[in-house]
Amino acid sequence: MWEVSGGPARTPMLEGKQVVVGVTGGIAAYKAAEVVSRLRQLGAEVHVIMTRAATQLVGPLTFQTLSGNPVLTDLFAEPKRWNVEHIALADRADLLLIVPATANILGKLASGIADDYLSTTVMATAAPVVLAPAMHHRMWQNPVVQENVQRLRRLGYEIIEPEHGRLASGGVGMGRLPDPPVIVEAVVRLLGGRRDLDGLKVLVTAGPTRERLDPVRYLSNFSSGKMGYALAAAACRRGAQVILISGPVVLEPPTGVELVAVESAEEMAAEVRRRVGEVKVVVMAAAVADYRPAEPSTRKLKRGPDELALRLVPNADILASLRTQKKDLFLVGFAAETEDLVANARAKLERKHLDLICANRVDLPGCGFGSDTNALTLIDRRGRVVEIPLQDKLKVAHAVWDHVVRMLAEDGGGCLPDP
Ligand code: PMT
Repeated sequence: MWEVSGGPARTPMLEGKQVVVGVTGGIAAYKAAEVVSRLRQLGAEVHVIMTRAATQLVGPLTFQTLSGNPVLTDLFAEPKRWNVEHIALADRADLLLIVPATANILGKLASGIADDYLSTTVMATAAPVVLAPAMHHRMWQNPVVQENVQRLRRLGYEIIEPEHGRLASGGVGMGRLPDPPVIVEAVVRLLGGRRDLDGLKVLVTAGPTRERLDPVRYLSNFSSGKMGYALAAAACRRGAQVILISGPVVLEPPTGVELVAVESAEEMAAEVRRRVGEVKVVVMAAAVADYRPAEPSTRKLKRGPDELALRLVPNADILASLRTQKKDLFLVGFAAETEDLVANARAKLERKHLDLICANRVDLPGCGFGSDTNALTLIDRRGRVVEIPLQDKLKVAHAVWDHVVRMLAEDGGGCLPDP
């Protein structure tokens, strides 16, 4: 559940949606509990079906408590209402999610086997089915499993790819279940949520840039990419097609977003200019280096007894150059400031011919570089100033998009794509 500063509380994003969560017998079954809890917090009505193996790993009572509904395990148990319950649930579901999906359930679904509550419900539903596989890395790489996954994709199942990382077996490899927020993100995207950016293509930049000094050293800044990634995730959730041009960060790209990875300011500039023709809105949250070393060395610089002076040359201002490249862009910039926030940001808004600038105090606790939260002052070309108080970066991102949507509507274009 989320709300935007100053306004009334919003309707939870999944209000009125029925999500059936199937839990199969992988060690990651415990993570499904958090997924269920988060889906409920977003307003979904959640029904959990567990396979027999899953009940050996996590007690059904956990899911019953978190979902607020009885957990279904046995196809032949005495039904509460006699209307062939797995069919009733299959009919009612807006989406069916299997988390974790073991190699066994993937094999069954790919071969049309329906021999328990979960597989019969999947077989009987017309709702989108999302599978979040998790297993030992050698099982995941097994050609049979990979063939089943390909087949399921062709049949229209949505697959949330497992991640590379430490596995329950102690080994490291591909096969780890992504964190619950990533899975919930995919569900929200598929179930629609607010779709007020439908039909709009946007470009978001994020993260720092690295300016090479020699093969082992670079100049950079403390940007983590969290603000830019949150903007990309929020836009995608609301229906936009998103190109995310990112400097080096350790974040997973949000599901559904097209990621373009770059390193230096020059690379970022080249990619932004190459892709800007495709989009209506550009949001530059990246902390682009203003300078780069004039003469990067191809060899590792050696330590010596004397002082070392670095000569830096300015990088092009990407944002400032975009208005001349494409006149009808909606341009959103950020201004990272430690003093005179509004005056400095307003000067950047004007100098760079922006529609909106997000002024960001970066010297206050919980704000700016690296933190999970942020607070912004939005200043638009009509002279309005809107405060977005300190809250997590995804909520801040939604508040920025709220303002963009409002301005696009005022401009008369709504969220229609370019002709
Ligand atoms: O990544 P996080 O850890 O989540 O931190 C988020 C953030 C603090 C980096 C972000 O909220 C932020 O403020 N980003 C802009 C940082 C910045 O470079 O501000 P600036 O005032 O120096 O630049 C003004 C604008 O011009 C920015 O939109 C910037 O992307 C753009 N710019 C700057 C330099 C340059 N050569 N080209 C540009 O396009």
